[in-house]
Amino acid sequence: MRRGTLYRAASLIVVAGLIVCAAMLWRPSIDPLAQAPAVDEASARRGARVAEQGDCAVCHTRPGGAYMAGGLPLVTPFGTLYTTNITPDRDTGIGSWPPEAFVRAMRHGVSRDGHFLYPAFPYVHYSKMSDGDISDVYAYLMSVDPVSARAPENHMMFPMNFRPLVSFWNLLFLRDDRLTDLPDRSAQWNRGRYLVEGAGHCSSCHTPLNFIGGEKGSEHLGGGLVDGWNAPALTGMAQRSNPWTAEQLVTYLRAGVAGHHGAAAGPMLPVSLSLAQLPEADAQAIADYLLSLDSNSLDSNTPSSGPDCEATGAASAGAASRVSAPALAQGEALFAGACAGCHGGGAPMRTIDGRPGLSVVSAATASDPRNLIKTILDGIPMSDRAPSHYMPPFADTLDDAHIAALAGYLRNQACGAAPWRDLQQTVNTLRQEGQSK
Ligand code: HEC
Ligand code: HEC
Ligand code: HEC
Repeated sequence: MRRGTLYRAASLIVVAGLIVCAAMLWRPSIDPLAQAPAVDEASARRGARVAEQGDCAVCHTRPGGAYMAGGLPLVTPFGTLYTTNITPDRDTGIGSWPPEAFVRAMRHGVSRDGHFLYPAFPYVHYSKMSDGDISDVYAYLMSVDPVSARAPENHMMFPMNFRPLVSFWNLLFLRDDRLTDLPDRSAQWNRGRYLVEGAGHCSSCHTPLNFIGGEKGSEHLGGGLVDGWNAPALTGMAQRSNPWTAEQLVTYLRAGVAGHHGAAAGPMLPVSLSLAQLPEADAQAIADYLLSLDSNSLDSNTPSSGPDCEATGAASAGAASRVSAPALAQGEALFAGACAGCHGGGAPMRTIDGRPGLSVVSAATASDPRNLIKTILDGIPMSDRAPSHYMPPFADTLDDAHIAALAGYLRNQACGAAPWRDLQQTVNTLRQEGQSK
């Protein structure tokens, strides 16, 4: 008898568990609109700004492709997926989406037909946005030119190709908690926090990820790795040996060149080009918030969060590991030939535009040589939003040994006592990574 009750209880628990699982794995479809929604123009105008804050076009427009029509491949550790068409085309875009379907996608990462979206779409951050901002982006997207374009098939690895698994990921990492202002902080600080933690989704690159691709909460903004680049720590920026001022941060964030720190390249460049479209007050608010963040992770083992001029590896400093004189001479000669026309002391870029020499920029003082090497390999692509920013890629003109010699020389100029190790191997690895894309 007792045993029968136990069995019944156990099977009830199993059935309940299965029902909970099924409910977790399934979301209802939301009926499509019969006709295109009327667009409120004032809301759409505000939404254009929110779209810049959220970098929607950076991901949803592929190079050479139509605005917001998707198709950009995103390479993740779990496979490659393509951004979708978010123009108001009814068949291939979101033209038939009612507002509540859009809100659900932004806050819960679920598509109109009920399928789970991959968190490469930063809904974990967008869920923190205000209702007003989300409905403004919706109005804006409904006002852009509709384009018929279907995203290519994704190539996600097993088991990640089974979308419902994302619901377990959401359980761990998705908090539907809209940010509310902290009363003891200024309006500017709260605005900065809202932009950084919400639409700006800065932590999606600037926070280290765990093995299932979730941000490590304990190292929030402590520095991350993205597309082979280091996204440096955004904590403790005011306490570094080469500290950032609010003014320098504002210039940097708005796609300018910050004295003593350099300019944005790699995955940060499009972010700064978007921020440049926004009122300067937004960048000032972001700077105010960032400079208030303590260096909670400066003593962690994340290489990207190391302070200026600290070498990776314990015993890196000291005479034995100094770069040899012939290697330095080779680097110097390469610099004179390939780089000095733009970066040398007398170059117009320095004298007229006032750009800092490479010995003070973050790429050269970071504990890790990645960003410097990536900049040399990839260059800085031409953009009609920042015509004077161009730097040619050197991947095809300089071999690994040359780039290693250049990096060794530039590091020596910046941080003579803390040379980088294994440069040629690192160049080789970064080159391979770049080609496998
Ligand atoms: C870091 C890249 C990235 C950014 C930035 C981004 N998205 Fe996306 N978005 C994606 C990817 C990838 C998908 C497709 C996910 C999938 O297929 O599971 C997606 C899907 C979507 C979808 C669902 C479309 C559908 O058909 O299911 C909507 C809506 C959307 N994004 C809106 C936005 C808006 C609005 C912004 C700006 C506030 C934005 N996205 C910014 C990467 C991005
Ligand atoms: C798509 C990934 C990505 C996103 C999103 C992103 N960043 Fe970055 N960020 C980077 C990378 C990569 C670098 C290094 C760029 C370089 O060295 O040229 C960087 C550099 C920076 C730096 C310079 C740090 C230093 O020590 O030199 C600041 C400041 C910064 N980002 C702020 C932000 C803010 C604020 C946001 C959100 C509004 C943001 N980033 C969003 C990838 C990103
Ligand atoms: C045609 C001009 C040009 C040439 C040649 C050139 N660069 Fe650049 N480089 C730029 C521009 C523009 C930037 C963007 C930063 C800026 O606006 O100051 C940049 C940025 C960089 C950065 C990142 C600095 C930062 O501000 O974060 C590094 C590192 C760099 N270059 C190294 C090199 C090296 C090494 C060479 C030679 C192999 C080289 N560059 C050749 C134009 C050039």
